[in-house]
Amino acid sequence: MSLIVVNEIKKLRELVRDYRKQGKTIALVPTMGCLHNGHKSLMEKAHSVADVTVASVFVNPIQFCPGEDYDRYPRTLEADKIVAESAGLDIIFAPSVNEMYPNLQKFSDLTMVTPPYELTDIMCGKSRVGHFDGVETVVTKLFNIVQPDFACFGMKDIQQLFLIKKMVADLNFPIEIIPCPLVREDDGLALSSRNKYLSETDRKLALSLSKALFAIRDFFKAGITDTKKLFDTGLTNLDKNVELEYLEFVDFDTFKPVDSVSHNTICAMAAKVGNVRLIDNIVLEV
Ligand code: PAF
Repeated sequence: MSLIVVNEIKKLRELVRDYRKQGKTIALVPTMGCLHNGHKSLMEKAHSVADVTVASVFVNPIQFCPGEDYDRYPRTLEADKIVAESAGLDIIFAPSVNEMYPNLQKFSDLTMVTPPYELTDIMCGKSRVGHFDGVETVVTKLFNIVQPDFACFGMKDIQQLFLIKKMVADLNFPIEIIPCPLVREDDGLALSSRNKYLSETDRKLALSLSKALFAIRDFFKAGITDTKKLFDTGLTNLDKNVELEYLEFVDFDTFKPVDSVSHNTICAMAAKVGNVRLIDNIVLEV
C-alpha cells in the first residue's frame, strides 16, 4: 500500500471504516510534523504491531502558550512524506486548523480535556501553563477521529506520555498506548524537531543536557542513589551558558518526586539554549 495524505476528518473516517470492515487493526502516531528519526522509530513500531498505520501531522495551536513558537514551528509536509514512506506508513492525516477547530474564536469556546493539576504543576507543565490541556484535547480528538487500537508515543516527552497513559485509563479509551524509546544523535543529543532552531554554537551547548544526564547515570551506577547528590552532579556537568529550567527525579509510575532513586526513577530536565527550550530525560533502573 502506498502512502496516502488525507486532510479531511470525513475522508479519514471512511478509510478507517473500510479497514475495520476488513478486520484490520490500526495504529496511530500523533505528531506535529517536521519528522526525524525519532518519529520514524515510532512509525516503525506502529507498523510492527498493526495492519494499518496512520500518523497525524498537525501543529496544534491550543498546546502553545502565548509567546511560544507556534508561528515559526517548522511545517515540512513534503519532507515528512519521505520519512513516513521510508517507515512504511500508510496514511498521513494532515488537517488544517479549521478542520480540527472549526470557528474557534478563543480557547474558552472549546470543550477541553484537563489533566489533574498536581500532575501538571510540575516539570514542563509548570512553565507551560495550559500546555497539557491542549495536548490532551487534541489527542482525544485524534483518538476519536482515527479510533486506533494502538497509539505510539515517544519517551522523550515523558510527562506527556505519563499523562496520556493516565487519560486513557481514566477515560476508558479502548487503546493500547505503546511507549517508544527516546532516540539520540550519535553524540548524545536527543532528537527533537526544535533542534532545527539551534545554531552551530548552540548545538554544541545543547550537548551538555545529555552530558549532565549521562553523568548522573554514571554516578547512579557507581552506587549514589541520593537525588540531591545526583542533582549536583548534573548541575556540575551542565554548561554555564545553558539556562536550566528544571532537573527533577520522579517515580516512573506515579510521577511523584523522589529523594532517593528506588525502582524506576525518571531523571528529566528542561533547559534553554539561547532562546531554544529543550527537554531530555533518562530512566534510572534499579
Ligand atoms: O508530542 C507531540 O508532538 C504533540 O504534543 C502531540 C502528541 C502530537 C499532540 O499535538
